[in-house]
Amino acid sequence: MSHTLFSLQGRVALVTGGSRGLGFAMAESLATAGAHVVLNSRDAKALSLQADALKAKGLKASFAAFDVTDQKACEQAVDGIVKEFGRLDILIGNAGIQHRNVINDWQSDDWDRVTNANLKSCFFLAQACVRPMKAQGFGRLIFTTSITGILGRATIHAYVASKAGLAALTRSLAAELGEFGITSNSIAPGYFETEINEALLKDEAFVARVNGRTALKRWGKPSELGGAAVFLASEEAGYVTGHQLVIDGGFTSTM
Ligand SMILES: NC(=O)c1ccc[n+]([C@@H]2O[C@H](COP(=O)([O-])OP(=O)(O)OC[C@H]3O[C@@H](n4cnc5c(N)ncnc54)[C@H](OP(=O)(O)O)[C@@H]3O)[C@@H](O)[C@H]2O)c1
Repeated sequence: MSHTLFSLQGRVALVTGGSRGLGFAMAESLATAGAHVVLNSRDAKALSLQADALKAKGLKASFAAFDVTDQKACEQAVDGIVKEFGRLDILIGNAGIQHRNVINDWQSDDWDRVTNANLKSCFFLAQACVRPMKAQGFGRLIFTTSITGILGRATIHAYVASKAGLAALTRSLAAELGEFGITSNSIAPGYFETEINEALLKDEAFVARVNGRTALKRWGKPSELGGAAVFLASEEAGYVTGHQLVIDGGFTSTM
């Protein structure tokens, strides 16, 4: 049987935080490669519009609105996908939030909100996805981390800790799940023009600073993560696991 390189034909993918930004861009790329994508966020209306936009392009898409920090809701969503499609091949654990404050103004609730959404949710969603993936003998776990988990950055303490933790979780999952044909990798974006960076994008000096520090002299476009997501989800990446792929225009590799 012939197989087109990087084809995701017949694969089913769940993309959290798939209503906009990086998640939606990765979902569109997976769908373009042939996968059926299930878009997730907490906003059913936004998801419905985005799924319709993909379908209007002839792509296969649907949506599941739930909060990734609600473990029961995650399990129900995964069960629903498996019931409907008979499989779940790819998880893009991408939903994430930000909170900025100087150290002494951080409250315990802020810490929990960020780490629950960015880290704990990824573990329990992976736990749910791994059940059908083990049965299939195939699975692709892909998490969105961040270069701030590598370099550190003032005021976003829980975010940095959660993203570094997620890179580490990527490796512990890889270690445990390889024997079942399941790979676990993460994508660490640099600075991309999305809603999570709204405040930063309004700060001209900061935008210029990122441009200056980045080898490619510009911020990233969400579509520039698509190829990496397709690669890591594909059969061709079958021997790639435990890896964090940095996509940052050279921000962390040059000075
Ligand atoms: N943009 C960057 O430069 C950059 C760099 C490094 C890493 N990242 C990471 O990339 C990921 C995507 O960020 P983005 O830039 O695309 O930001 P974004 O535009 O703010 O998108 C965040 C997405 O996550 C969803 N979300 C947030 N909390 C959720 C929850 N509890 N349950 C379900 N969905 C939830 C949001 O939808 P609702 O709020 O409607 O639920 C939205 O779809 C995040 O993990 C972020 O940390 C971004």
